[in-house]
Amino acid sequence: MMDMLGRPEHDDQQEAKLKKSRTLTKNMQKFKKIYASAVSGGTEERVKAQKAKGKFLARERINYLVDQGSFYEIKTLVESNCTDFGIKDKHIQGDGVITGFARIAGKDVAIFAQDFTQLGGSLGKAHAHKIATLMDMALEAKVPVVGLLDSGGARIQEGVESLDGYGDIFYRNVKASGVIPQISVILGPCAGGAVYSPALTDFIFMVEGISHMFVTGPSVVKSATGEEVDFDTLGGSVAHGEKSGVCHFVAKSEQDCFRQVRELLDFLPQNCFEKPAATTTQDPATRRTKVLESICEIEPGKSFRVQHVIWRLADNYEFFEVHQNYAKNITVGFIRMGGEVVGVVANNPAYLGGALDINASDKAARFVRFLNDFNIPILTLVDIGGYLPGVEQEHGGIIRHGAKLLYAYSEATVPKITLVLRKAYGGAYIAMSSKYLGGDFNFAFPSAEIAVMGPRGAVEILYSKELKNTPEDKAEELREKLTAEYREKFASPYQTALTGSIDEVIEPASAREKIIRALRILKNKRDPKENPKKGNIPL
Ligand code: HXC
Repeated sequence: MMDMLGRPEHDDQQEAKLKKSRTLTKNMQKFKKIYASAVSGGTEERVKAQKAKGKFLARERINYLVDQGSFYEIKTLVESNCTDFGIKDKHIQGDGVITGFARIAGKDVAIFAQDFTQLGGSLGKAHAHKIATLMDMALEAKVPVVGLLDSGGARIQEGVESLDGYGDIFYRNVKASGVIPQISVILGPCAGGAVYSPALTDFIFMVEGISHMFVTGPSVVKSATGEEVDFDTLGGSVAHGEKSGVCHFVAKSEQDCFRQVRELLDFLPQNCFEKPAATTTQDPATRRTKVLESICEIEPGKSFRVQHVIWRLADNYEFFEVHQNYAKNITVGFIRMGGEVVGVVANNPAYLGGALDINASDKAARFVRFLNDFNIPILTLVDIGGYLPGVEQEHGGIIRHGAKLLYAYSEATVPKITLVLRKAYGGAYIAMSSKYLGGDFNFAFPSAEIAVMGPRGAVEILYSKELKNTPEDKAEELREKLTAEYREKFASPYQTALTGSIDEVIEPASAREKIIRALRILKNKRDPKENPKKGNIPL
């Protein structure tokens, strides 16, 4: 062997080189062995059990969700230092959770996935620390956090330390709230106090048949209350997607769920300092929406699904609905208009006549607050006869819950555009982003009835004596006449436009164009309090 100058190499020089390359090879072999073992997941038996339940493995989930080859793992080798119950001897590398960064639909995100094949994905101190560290890094990098949850809850072997771990995570969920979007995807059990981390995040996804969330499981329920209930009935996707409202999106399969997560992220900015990215659209801003005439001229008492209006207003007729099966009397979700992301809040006359009740108020208020946090303009479509009457609603606290919506709209400083479709009566008219809650552009269709109450109800109160004193066979005729008079005089948009509470009465056919123009005008709207430079003193 020759050296660089062509002289024969000394034996011990050659030996040193060989030793170095042998060490390098050994180092690389050790590295490969350690990492191969760390990413291999649980035992064969546990992997089989996971598959038998129709569930993907944690690493498969990450691969399916993120852009190909974009996953960048951190803390792969972290292990628990718990010595009780033989945990240390098990050497669970990664401690049952995979953490790192990735891109989803081209966007950077922080992501973690609990691995049910390792100690049931249970949360011990090291496991919690990995998630908490990732959240801290995400908050600094200002990127969304996506959590894939599949866990038996607090790791029983680690005692109170695992409870503290949850505390660590809850604390960070709150710190990150309104700063970076947080998304929880439930892909297995999520039990006990563990449910409160997803509940503190912005959106929860569940998959039919495999996702379960509950504070106390079926056996505790049985011993505490005597009720017999199975996992799915107690805390499955129907329970939370339709009844409790805990879950925002229900998917048929894990793949379907990942598709929905990608779609949601596409509407969101990376953090509260940015706006969602605009796209170019082939759908003209000037597209006429004449069909809205026939939808909105339906008699006030009859119903239609408000989604038909939303589809017509949106770019390419696309509407990404949030909380689709919960409190259906109000419809919320994302659309694009002229390429810009817009959050829609709309009364849905197809359910409970679109009345505001406790659940609808909570659903809409939380969504409005999310939109405000993340700089997304709000389009409110109004078709409401009032708050839902009833003892159940009153005793359930419709006053308290209804106030949340008033608060959310009033505090929102993003562009607010309101369109009254057919009717807006009473207190509910005020609540639905009316002018005096800070609406920027308040429009109404010519068919809109805006009044203190519905014409029939108003006539019953105003003319109760006259109606009582009229013979029964003539009373209905009189009622009809007075109702028509009241409707003509008070229940129209023109009365409201006179006072300026409606900025413009618009043709249904021009609705899309008018809204997009308004959005463009408001493009640079900022909360005046956010202006760091304050006023300009005359000098
Ligand atoms: C440690 C756990 C565990 C846990 C499951 N495992 N949950 N290990 N701590 N919390 C382990 C099991 O021992 C088993 O280990 C493996 O995970 C798979 O569990 P299985 O029971 O075989 O699976 P399955 O039949 O699918 O049942 C899943 C389950 C059940 C329904 C989640 O495991 C279960 O009920 N676990 C306990 C749930 C619970 O009560 N958690 C505490 C909640 S209180 P091996 O060694 O066999 O592979 C809580 C408080 C949080 O979380 C408070 C925060 C403020």
